Amino acid sequence: MIKDTFQGKKILLGVTGCIAAYKSGFIVRELTKRGAEVRVVLTPSAVEFIAPLTLSSLSHNDVVVNTFPVNQKNGTDLSTWHIDYALWADLMLIAPATINTIAKISYGFADNALTTLVTALRSPLVIAPAADVDMYNNPINKENLLKLEKLGHHIIYPESGELASGLSGEGRLADVNKILDTVELILSGYKKDLSGKKILVSAGPTYEDIDPVRFIGNRSSGKMGYAIAKSAYLRGADVTLVSGPSSQNFYPEIKMMKVRSASGMEQVIKKEIEKNDLLIMSAAVSDFRPVKAASNKIKKEKGIMELKMSLNPDILSSIKAKKTKVIGFALETENEIKNAKKKLSDKNLDMIVLNSPGKESGFEVDTNRVTIIRKDGKSIKLPLLSKFQSANKILSEAKKILE
Ligand code: C5P
Repeated sequence: MIKDTFQGKKILLGVTGCIAAYKSGFIVRELTKRGAEVRVVLTPSAVEFIAPLTLSSLSHNDVVVNTFPVNQKNGTDLSTWHIDYALWADLMLIAPATINTIAKISYGFADNALTTLVTALRSPLVIAPAADVDMYNNPINKENLLKLEKLGHHIIYPESGELASGLSGEGRLADVNKILDTVELILSGYKKDLSGKKILVSAGPTYEDIDPVRFIGNRSSGKMGYAIAKSAYLRGADVTLVSGPSSQNFYPEIKMMKVRSASGMEQVIKKEIEKNDLLIMSAAVSDFRPVKAASNKIKKEKGIMELKMSLNPDILSSIKAKKTKVIGFALETENEIKNAKKKLSDKNLDMIVLNSPGKESGFEVDTNRVTIIRKDGKSIKLPLLSKFQSANKILSEAKKILE
């Protein structure tokens, strides 16, 4: 078992008054499930959208709504709760943050429990705005967000889509998973250190068709590649993901290019590679494909079927990238380091990531145990980590080859 980044972390969750406030329940639930201690502070208008009892039940803590707590004894003992909370927290997240609260924070107002607490905060502040499209795009709101970002606060920008008003556009609270990933990244000490970098990531298996209903595939789920794409995006990179069939979720800001077969993946990668600073080839590309896919379903009445396979192109070996750096993956079961180093040089890579398949690593699981091998021969063996944490370690090494 690995230690979750949230384990033992003290998180303040600020909730403000908008319809997305109902999603704060999911955030509290997920944070506590992953081992964080959560204290919730609501603005008076947030109470119109979500009951304090809901959030105190989910957080197993009292919820603060009033700046001056009603159960205050003799006017002194609880009067510095905002300072105590501010000193207690490892991080404060405001989700959803209305344009009203954003404006107040950017001007240093302390007119309710939440804004008062923010002024006393020492830990990182993460703000996830939500509003209707025109409210969100109001230039004053944009200016306030920019100001907060320049001050070093983290903004999780909203997504575009259907809004509660019936309008469609920017302003929908970022996906809860993206909010949690961002908080995890900040708690782990990562910054937007890949800003300005263009990264192409391949992920998932490839499917090689036998006939219109059958194919040859492999056990890759895409989890590692998707984790790399997500971490790279959160760390500021412009990310394109070339994915074989996979049901993993990703962020709308990641440019997704779905492919099916190895030759489909090869075509897209060859077209995209020169536009990028780095290719991270984590896809489990099928080495073989049926010589010919039947145009009709092969009938079992025909008896035992013999499948003749031909070799697929090795995408990495055929790449002739001039400027783009290339990182490959290797999955070995014997002579792991030796074989991975051979692959690094045969495929002319700048770095290779060695996967060790096992119960807690490799295919389908959320954890991985990898060794990063650099071009100079140095290898970095990482412990068992979540794929998200492994992705971040891989990206930190990748950053060095981009410098
Ligand atoms: O040689 P092997 O398949 O073990 O190498 C794995 C690396 O090569 C991975 O990065 C994988 O994405 C890439 N690969 C490729 N084209 C193939 C097979 C694997 O680019 N046909």
